Amino acid sequence: MHLVGIAREIVVAAISEVLPLLSYEEIDNLLEIPPSMELGDYSFPCFTLAKQLRKSPVVIAKELAEKIPDNRLLEKVVVVHGFVNFYLKKGQLACDLIPKICHEGLRYGKSTEGAGKSIVIDFSSPNIAKPFSVAHLRSTVIGHSLARIWEHMGYKAERINHLGDWGTQFGKVIVAYKRWGEEDSLYPKGSIRHLLELYVRFHKEAEENPSLDDEARLWFKKLEDGDQEAYKLWAQFRQTSLESLKEVYELMGVTFDHYTGESFYNDLIPSAVLKLQPFIEVSEGAEIVPLGDDMPPFLVRKSDGATLYGTRDLTAAIYRYETFNFTKALYVVGGEQALHFKQVFAVLKKLGYDWAENCEHVPFGLMRFGDMKLSTRQGNVIFLEDVLDKSIELTKAIIEEKNPTLEDKEEVARAVGVGAVIFNDLRNNRIKDINFEWDELLNFQGDTGPYIQYTHARACSLLEKGGRLDEFNLDLLKEPEENALIISLERFPEVIKQAAKNNEPSTVARYLLNLARDFNKFYQAHRIVDAEEGLANARLMLVAAVKQVIAEGLFLLGIEAPEKM
Ligand code: ARG
Repeated sequence: MHLVGIAREIVVAAISEVLPLLSYEEIDNLLEIPPSMELGDYSFPCFTLAKQLRKSPVVIAKELAEKIPDNRLLEKVVVVHGFVNFYLKKGQLACDLIPKICHEGLRYGKSTEGAGKSIVIDFSSPNIAKPFSVAHLRSTVIGHSLARIWEHMGYKAERINHLGDWGTQFGKVIVAYKRWGEEDSLYPKGSIRHLLELYVRFHKEAEENPSLDDEARLWFKKLEDGDQEAYKLWAQFRQTSLESLKEVYELMGVTFDHYTGESFYNDLIPSAVLKLQPFIEVSEGAEIVPLGDDMPPFLVRKSDGATLYGTRDLTAAIYRYETFNFTKALYVVGGEQALHFKQVFAVLKKLGYDWAENCEHVPFGLMRFGDMKLSTRQGNVIFLEDVLDKSIELTKAIIEEKNPTLEDKEEVARAVGVGAVIFNDLRNNRIKDINFEWDELLNFQGDTGPYIQYTHARACSLLEKGGRLDEFNLDLLKEPEENALIISLERFPEVIKQAAKNNEPSTVARYLLNLARDFNKFYQAHRIVDAEEGLANARLMLVAAVKQVIAEGLFLLGIEAPEKM
């Protein structure tokens, strides 16, 4: 186990010295952060030891506390019920920590835990002939943030966009395109929106005319068999769709290392199916792999020989392991696909791949739009691009009102508008459904992205006013508001580690909200630039460190940090 926090490391080491019964790691896992600062900065509960040591937790805590050696960072150790509470010397901590943060910049809190290891992250992965909607927003935002968080843990992240660019829906779109594709459309031919129009129309007409479905199946079969015309149309759809997708990713600052969609695996499927052969049974003409009583069987090939979403995921997993030799593979996909991934992982296990253990479905909840009215609604589809554009536009209006002379208004509005949408997605546990309310998401005082970005800009402006800092004595920082910030900065590395462990960007998001709140309390309560000279410098150094950590935290969420807003 690699610990990165300074003070936490010292506390764990101190306990470990006097409590050989537990390993360093076990102690680290038990160590808690007390609910309020009055109770200390770290707290060690002794309850689980009672049985083994045949003593009451209170007695154990007392004996431990007496033995804890003096340390330059420890102010005092106090026993409360069965807890040993540790109080840190914040002044000393500040002297150790703040210069370190300012020196390390965006590297503060980076770990080497994942050195030499790789993690595959499958995220965003929209379907390009089906509605491309805000449902993929969640996957995009969560996956992008997780990639950065895991990179901070030292891993090499492989960002994979598993585009839904193959499957029976392409048969439908080809049929629709051949019939109606050249007719008037609001959108460029072959673009995602155009394809959606066709897709919607296909379904409407197929209700009256079921033979369209047969025709579509035929065309998909042709496509799978390499028919030239089918292939050409498909390739054209894919290309235009990909181009418009990339524009949205660019707007959000999201990147991928691989655009290996479902079609990428076509040539690899036969060898994967061959591996499956010993487990395959034929049922009503289809090839299936039974998975026992607690799961429906895995469908390998339909009766007409067509492959499925699952067949391609299975093939992709094997390819990814062989290519990247991953330590972990994450699938950032909505909770409704839980069974699908359970089946895929179960089949991998059947094939004897023990690395199946390292594949993990990272699910998330739904996005609800309340009664919001958006300009472009087609069926029930809300386009991600429209949401982002609207957010940027609303932000621009707010800036126009609050700070009309700001330079680079366009750029700032983009960073803040997009940041607001991203933060709204990441601020709660991912498994929770989220609500989408413009007023809430863009409230500069609320629990929002703009609030944190604004706090960052406020820190930047203080630093600009303060000028160059050559000398400072951080021992002067003694106020409770200062202490709260110092201890919070110290915990940041631990926060990143927790976020990675649970694949939970919200851990970082909530940390940033608290840090921003604490910073604004400090800002309201104390003079900074115009405090007495020595103190002003010490406080400005603290501001610099807070600014640094906010910027870094926002980066981990995939949000920009403009210096002015
Ligand atoms: N295209 C799929 C959908 O939108 C998501 C793909 C997720 N990744 C995967 N390897 N199955 O439902």
